[in-house]
Amino acid sequence: DHIPVICIDGPTASGKGTLAALAAHRLGYHYLDSGALYRLSAFAAAQAGISLDDGDGVAGIARTLPVRFKGEKVFLDGKDVSDAIRTEAAGMAASKVSAHPQVRTALLELQHGFRCLPGLVADGRDMGTVVFPGAQLKIYLTASAEHRAERRYKQLISKGNSATLASIQQDLEARDARDMSRKAAPLKPADDAKLLDNSYLSIENSVDQVIEWWQGSR
Ligand code: C5P
Repeated sequence: DHIPVICIDGPTASGKGTLAALAAHRLGYHYLDSGALYRLSAFAAAQAGISLDDGDGVAGIARTLPVRFKGEKVFLDGKDVSDAIRTEAAGMAASKVSAHPQVRTALLELQHGFRCLPGLVADGRDMGTVVFPGAQLKIYLTASAEHRAERRYKQLISKGNSATLASIQQDLEARDARDMSRKAAPLKPADDAKLLDNSYLSIENSVDQVIEWWQGSR
């Protein structure tokens, strides 16, 4: 446990990914996007014709996921799947498979492998509660559902997708409800997490806050 880890957990579209990646960049640390692993597991299972309800089947796929991260890109078996796993449907599929305890266990070792010197910033739902319980800094990032839906909406539109704000907010609230109510590693703040609500914070100010807490914790 001597390699430093900063955990950033929180609900859908809270900005965890952007915040974690920027904080990692500033500190020169590695970055783990754990949600991508659940997205990839669902994606690979669907490709293999395995039902998302089949926990053992999806876990089998997750255990030997041929994944490689390179900058902002994700490769599965050498194929660039970065865009394919970023759709709302892929997020919903990830949320379904992530409720299977077997799938979560299957991905544990892979996630632990990201903890390398000089340090790691990991984002997800259970980084601080389950995957890195001994982390030196845990942050629970939230924003109002309205703010989160609006950000996701702008993201989708800027990428040329069509969407309505109302349906996005509905989808993300449904996904959060599932993530918070599941038995296996439900989404909730770790007991020792610092709460950060970024509804009215710029991304730069959020990164500053993380770095300030990080310096204060050492
Ligand atoms: O963060 P992202 O939206 O990519 O996550 C997709 C889904 O994967 C989440 O809705 C959640 O169900 C699941 N997930 C999880 N544990 C994590 C990260 C993501 O259960 N650590």
